[in-house]
Amino acid sequence: MKTHKLALIPGDGIGVDVTDATMEVLAAAGTQFGFALETETFPWSCEYYLQTGAMMPEDGIETLGGFDAIYLGAVGWPATVPDSVSLHGLLLPIRKAFNQYANIRPHRLLPGVEGPLKAEGFDILCIRENTEGEYSGAGGRVHQGKDNEVATEVAIFTRKGVERIIRFGFEQARARRGHLTSVTKSNAQKYSMVFWDEVTKEIAAEYPDVTVSHMHIDAMAAKMVMAPESLDVIVASNLFGDILTDLGAAIQGGLGFAASANICPDRSGPSMFEPVHGSAPDIAGKNIANPIAAIWSGAMMLEHLGEGEAAAAVLAAIEAVTAQGIGTRPGKSTTDEITAAIKAALEK
Ligand code: NAD
Ligand code: IPM
Ligand code: MN
Repeated sequence: MKTHKLALIPGDGIGVDVTDATMEVLAAAGTQFGFALETETFPWSCEYYLQTGAMMPEDGIETLGGFDAIYLGAVGWPATVPDSVSLHGLLLPIRKAFNQYANIRPHRLLPGVEGPLKAEGFDILCIRENTEGEYSGAGGRVHQGKDNEVATEVAIFTRKGVERIIRFGFEQARARRGHLTSVTKSNAQKYSMVFWDEVTKEIAAEYPDVTVSHMHIDAMAAKMVMAPESLDVIVASNLFGDILTDLGAAIQGGLGFAASANICPDRSGPSMFEPVHGSAPDIAGKNIANPIAAIWSGAMMLEHLGEGEAAAAVLAAIEAVTAQGIGTRPGKSTTDEITAAIKAALEK
């Protein structure tokens, strides 16, 4: 039987619940389609930090490098550990260390899910640059007396980094409906975003079959609400992509539906799969988190691992369940009920 080595990091809050749910469904998919996920679970989380003083061991990245893929629930428990410590100690270094520069986030309405908009027929794929830009971690704080304190956060954009994500966006657009929208703020940010626009125009010449639009982030935020059906693939920098994908989650019915894949396209290291949402401390431990975003992310992982048929079956099972009105509205069904329904639909 084909075996895939999977590193599991359930993390904090509902990250644990939705990881359990996903593994139940993926194990059932394995039985049905003839593969096994050989999983090792790592307890790296805010709890782990409080016990050890670090979010993961010093050789954590090295350890993860030995796996075919990483699945992560969510990280962060701001009541006890500052987000600037927890996220910079676990999630963000993993994305960088394994060159997971393409963060893929699909936004569409699953059958039976009512979004907040009148628009229904949208199908957007957001490609978020995932390793540099506004998340470069460069900057600092200068103290010259409290009144004169200065803090900087330097966004670093390299030609290599921009070219590869733009090219990735074009490839995705080519495989879909042939339209790419590049999102910047080059009217206000005159170095990095003008550079991004220039690189996009250069690379566009390699893809004559793809039409390209350039939009500013503010206009894009409005467009995603007013006319989401006009969009196909969006490519954006790290921070802009982060914000647009919570907006994307909102128009697809909520964060409980938004899946995500942190892809290392050259496969020099493992890719990581996780829902868009966080640890949701407000609903943690109540068995009410929607596991659909997480399970969909699990389907994206199966696809990446070469189990395309199983991935399609998991997605079809999710859709069969939402079409029956299960998991479509907050509070209607528990995490366990939604998970059991998806498993049952898969086994049918
Ligand atoms: P969040 O995504 O955890 O929650 C935002 C809102 O959406 C909350 O009201 C929550 O209850 C709701 N929600 C989220 N996922 C849901 C689900 N599956 N089902 C139903 N409702 C859901 O964002 P936040 O509150 O800003 O962040 C909480 C913590 O998670 C912070 O520490 C933050 O830094 C962290 N975070 C981690 C990740 C990650 O690990 N990938 C992503 C985002 C936020
Ligand atoms: C996400 C999250 C993370 C990000 C946070 C938790 C650092 O919001 O995956 O969207 O900004 O990338
Ligand atoms: Mn986010």
